Amino acid sequence: MLTLNINGKDQELDVPADMPLLWVLRDVAHLTGTKFGCGMAQCGACTVHIDGTPLRSCITPATAVAHGQKILTIEGLSIDGSHPVQQAWAELDVVQCGYCQSGQIMSAAALLAKIPQPTDSDIDQALSGNICRCGTYPRIRAAVKRAAQLG
Ligand code: FES
Ligand code: FES
Repeated sequence: MLTLNINGKDQELDVPADMPLLWVLRDVAHLTGTKFGCGMAQCGACTVHIDGTPLRSCITPATAVAHGQKILTIEGLSIDGSHPVQQAWAELDVVQCGYCQSGQIMSAAALLAKIPQPTDSDIDQALSGNICRCGTYPRIRAAVKRAAQLG
């Protein structure tokens, strides 16, 4: 049994010791907003926050974050979609197929928590590991700037 703090709540979960956090979140905790893309830390679809830092959950063993670290998933960002990043994403209609977007949003939220008024270069650097097959990058950049205004 592992105790994980997910979205503000401690949860006791019965999982294999080597199970990646992504699968614990999706298959055991039933939080399917975090997506599986590559499984190799190359696409960013699986991004969650660990103590505020964006991290690729596909290559992180759940045991590595079972020591009281706070895990935040897209479901915990806000209950009602009122986080400035979510508001900006909706306002600018960023999403195309949507598959990459929870990872994009989590990376953007972590950036804005650290740098409230990011430059283009800050945005490019923070989101460079989040791949979008639909090419929504211009809208993502605009939405990060809009979220900074709403913030
Ligand atoms: S699924 Fe984790 S980075 Fe692609
Ligand atoms: S919106 Fe389709 S992969 Fe990004």
